[in-house]
Amino acid sequence: MKVVETVKGLRQQVTGWRNAGELVALVPTMGNLHLGHLELVTQARQQADRVVVTIFINPMQFGEGEDFSSYPRTLEQDCAQLVKVGADLLFNPSVDEVYPHGQEQQTVVTVPLFSAILCGATRPDHFAGVATVVCKLLNMVQADLALFGEKDFQQLLVIRRMAEDLCIPIEIVGVPTVREENGLAMSSRNGYLTPKERGRAPLLYRILNETAAAIEADVSDFTALEQEGERRLTESGFIPDYYSIRRAADLSEPDRDEQYLVILAAARLGHTRLIDNLQVMRRIR
Ligand code: PAJ
Repeated sequence: MKVVETVKGLRQQVTGWRNAGELVALVPTMGNLHLGHLELVTQARQQADRVVVTIFINPMQFGEGEDFSSYPRTLEQDCAQLVKVGADLLFNPSVDEVYPHGQEQQTVVTVPLFSAILCGATRPDHFAGVATVVCKLLNMVQADLALFGEKDFQQLLVIRRMAEDLCIPIEIVGVPTVREENGLAMSSRNGYLTPKERGRAPLLYRILNETAAAIEADVSDFTALEQEGERRLTESGFIPDYYSIRRAADLSEPDRDEQYLVILAAARLGHTRLIDNLQVMRRIR
């Protein structure tokens, strides 16, 4: 696997592949790779001839007081894992390479429909930071497809809309959430959990499943289900940011007869903020 740190080096390599008619896939990450990230690379391998992975801890998407400086940096381990799953190229740029004019002077991409709700309500500039860096990475790499996890469901919708609105010629592929055996969604931030919190964390997914089962059993008072979900989280030791049932297509408030729903939750467990979601397809009666 080749490792490059400059846009110039990246472009040279990718242009060669594209000129040879090869299909190029991109998997953007912030590193500290786990099986969820590696699944994206494996899927990319199956769908393209060449796989480019980026590791860039993007300062622009972290708010004040968030974990930018303490975010785990594990480049050596990450490289070893990427070699095993067959990535062709790692792009690992510096902050200056990505933001050569400084972050203050950076042109910003915002996606109004999704940026201020749910995670955007508690993390006001987060999705602008994500949309901006992903837009830049898509333009730097110029891949044919890019893969993102459904674990970050709102982020996936932000990126899809950004690419569509800005006419970026790329296919955005969503990949189902990879979980531990106990149901906990894999996340780099799980490493912050104490052993006791690790024991509790899988309850988040269990509670999402209870809500999904109620919806599948035709309970359609979504407000009551949301309140019950929040109550269950609180009694399990979480501090919920939100517990929300939305239309999966656009995260708007659903009608009672909406068929394709997503239950989204964000909650703090000690010092760690966990997010998860579960899509529910209701049967047509
Ligand atoms: P990061 O949290 O490192 O995640 C990189 C990619 O891996 C994202 O698409 C995320 O949704 C996916 N992912 C994380 N955990 C997963 C899991 N358990 N199962 C499946 N996919 C999973 O998300 C980001 O980085 C950044 O915001 C980024 C898009 C790279 C922009 O900076």
